[in-house]
Amino acid sequence: MSDTTNQTVPIAVLEPANQTRRDIFRLAGAGFAAATLAASGLARAQVAEEAGTESLMIERKGINKDIRVFNIDLLEEEARLKYSNGVYVFVSHGSGDQWTLRENRRAFGDYVFTPHRMQGIVRNKIDTSVTLLGAKLPHPVLVTPFGSHGLHHPAGEVATAEGAARSGALLAVSSASTRSMEDIAKATTGPKWFQMYLTVDAGESREVLVRARDAGYKAIILTIDAIGQGSSDEYMRLGNPRPWLPYGNFPTGNPNAFKTNLTWKDLEFIATTTGLPVIVKGVTRAEDAVAAVKAGAAAIQVSNHGGRALDGTPAAITVLPEIAQALQGDVPVIMDSGIRRGTDIVKALALGANAVAIGRPLMYGLAVGGAGGVNGVMEFMNRELVNTVLHCGVQSIGKLNESHVRRA
Ligand SMILES: Cc1cc2nc3c(=O)[nH]c(=O)nc-3n(C[C@H](O)[C@H](O)[C@H](O)COP(=O)(O)O)c2cc1C
Repeated sequence: MSDTTNQTVPIAVLEPANQTRRDIFRLAGAGFAAATLAASGLARAQVAEEAGTESLMIERKGINKDIRVFNIDLLEEEARLKYSNGVYVFVSHGSGDQWTLRENRRAFGDYVFTPHRMQGIVRNKIDTSVTLLGAKLPHPVLVTPFGSHGLHHPAGEVATAEGAARSGALLAVSSASTRSMEDIAKATTGPKWFQMYLTVDAGESREVLVRARDAGYKAIILTIDAIGQGSSDEYMRLGNPRPWLPYGNFPTGNPNAFKTNLTWKDLEFIATTTGLPVIVKGVTRAEDAVAAVKAGAAAIQVSNHGGRALDGTPAAITVLPEIAQALQGDVPVIMDSGIRRGTDIVKALALGANAVAIGRPLMYGLAVGGAGGVNGVMEFMNRELVNTVLHCGVQSIGKLNESHVRRA
């Protein structure tokens, strides 16, 4: 659990002794990425090859500082200074001309609060806890699966795991992580799920799934909407400028192509392979949610992949009420895409979500402060969550319902 603070990694790219932290980050795509690459034996060889020299052992301090977050847009501005332009565009943009990305934010404005006064609510006794698939969580804000944390921090998902553990958040780890699922699992004793992109090679997928179960992940998230190009027009124009990072869960660093001809049989494959509950992520229509539950889904994640799947898909908050209504409480509903504040979280909970998941804000926190940054974003979200619940006049988030919001 220590490698965000004082990491010794083999690396073939030496930092000048007086390099500032910001300079190190500016190397994003080169030295910054290389530090992360070097965390696996394979990556070490690749880095050494590229540099044409032997690997060296150097001491590398990762960044782990507590940050106080006031606003996610401001945090994003700060994080932007740490990235190369290519990495920033890769992370922050949505697909196509990014209508869905913008809509994810705009659509929260379709709802306003109906504060309920004089209810005698005690602020510091507000109960934000929730139980999801047997995991009792202190708050309903999940770390969504998100690929390649090595683009944000030298310790990658290990730093994220440490930050999530500090806040008690449930951690969902992407199969496209930079660090291996085993390394990440070792970094936290907190609750964790593993997200799977099935690949065209069923044997490869089976192996990864079994490893996830053995490493202690308690549920599998099947993402069903990553079946096309997820980048913006601008990212394409720039020539896909993201630096390549090996994927830590695959021996060659490179998985086979994602399976795109998914059916509900794939859900069954995951369930029988692992014996774990399966969450279906990427649902934007009620019929699909009902079909997922019929096929055995233990939970639904309403999501449009943060605007990175099909541009022109409605905002997640727009489709949430009809999906929650169709499911009638049969399984927990998680919502992501566009959440930037505690008020957004309360709107989602009032409209039928049991929990929410966040992506980019946590990555910006990770880039700025490592584990401390991830925790800082969680603190920000939860601070405003509690304040908003207080205005809604209920003592626990479980009491939020559609009466606490109305159409604007
Ligand atoms: C750069 C990037 C990488 C992502 N990688 C994954 C992934 O590996 N697996 C997955 O299920 N979703 C992935 N997502 C989608 C997130 O889980 C989530 O749906 C999205 O980030 C939520 O929107 P937000 O960033 O506005 O919070 C990714 C999203 C982004 C922006």
